[in-house]
Amino acid sequence: MEFNKIGVVGCGQMGSGIVEVAAKAGLEVLAMEITDELIEKGRSRIEKSLGRAVDKGKLSAEDKDAIMGRIKFTSNLDNFADSDLVVEAVTEDLKTKLETFVTLDRVCKPETALASNTSSLSITELAAGTNRPGRFIGLHFFNPVPVMKLVEVVKTVATDEEVIASARAFAEKVGKVPVLAKDGGGFIVNRLLVPYLFDAILVYQNGLATKEDIDNGMKFGCGHPMGPLELNDFIGLDTMYYIGEILFEEFKEPRFAPPPLLKRMVQAGYLGRKTGRGFYDYSK
Ligand code: 3HC
Repeated sequence: MEFNKIGVVGCGQMGSGIVEVAAKAGLEVLAMEITDELIEKGRSRIEKSLGRAVDKGKLSAEDKDAIMGRIKFTSNLDNFADSDLVVEAVTEDLKTKLETFVTLDRVCKPETALASNTSSLSITELAAGTNRPGRFIGLHFFNPVPVMKLVEVVKTVATDEEVIASARAFAEKVGKVPVLAKDGGGFIVNRLLVPYLFDAILVYQNGLATKEDIDNGMKFGCGHPMGPLELNDFIGLDTMYYIGEILFEEFKEPRFAPPPLLKRMVQAGYLGRKTGRGFYDYSK
């Protein structure tokens, strides 16, 4: 089955990126947010991102208008009834996601595939909340979605082979490289990335080097686009803490435990770029 009519629930940082890449690939996209204000925020985030490409001469103004024309917005999940694929990108909270999927399962036609963009929750647990575990899959995009080339396609023991194939084809269609992972804590990337990012916080906490030198070490020694402390700030320290708690709960291994300094920073409201302060000061 080809996924042509795409629904995206949640139009925040991740959701709006998914809407953008799908519409850019020529697909019809319906995006959902709960209030008119959040719909406006999502729409302007997409406009801004496409505007950047226009300014750089990588996209024509006409193409930008055509892409925006393929995107419709709604505040009602009932409007996803006819979608081929609905990707959920709401807040990273099990209860909120489960409620969303229970409703989608009720309103969508039986053939609709449901996907979660969760970075850390169990796809199996989310799928089990619906009556269509065979048509349920993980589609984990990376931030910033228009730039990062990867999508983790996450299968459970119940996911139909046909849905896996369609999900991979969808990821390729929107210009991404799909990798297939079983549903296990952190999938592939966060399972490897989170211990590394926590280790960087631990060595900084222990006074090994300045934050700038830790980041420069990995940028100029290993060719990473961002150093680990910068990347912690970029992802969001609250998000890092949350993912760490879930992975530690799953594996009970110290390398997944959020470092004490991370916890204190989150408690202080230093959440990284989004609050203007994390390991670095972004207020200016
Ligand atoms: N939206 C759209 N385009 C963007 C963008 C955004 N938010 N941010 C940057 N870009 C584009 C720019 O337009 C530019 O495009 P061009 O090359 O076609 O001109 C390109 O990206 C490079 O941008 P800049 O020159 O402005 O900035 P940088 O060169 O510093 O790159 C970066 C910014 C792409 C964010 C780069 O620093 C990077 O790749 N950082 C690492 C990001 C990363 O690791 N993300 C994964 C996080 S983990 C995750 O998401 C999983 C989750 O579960 C935790």
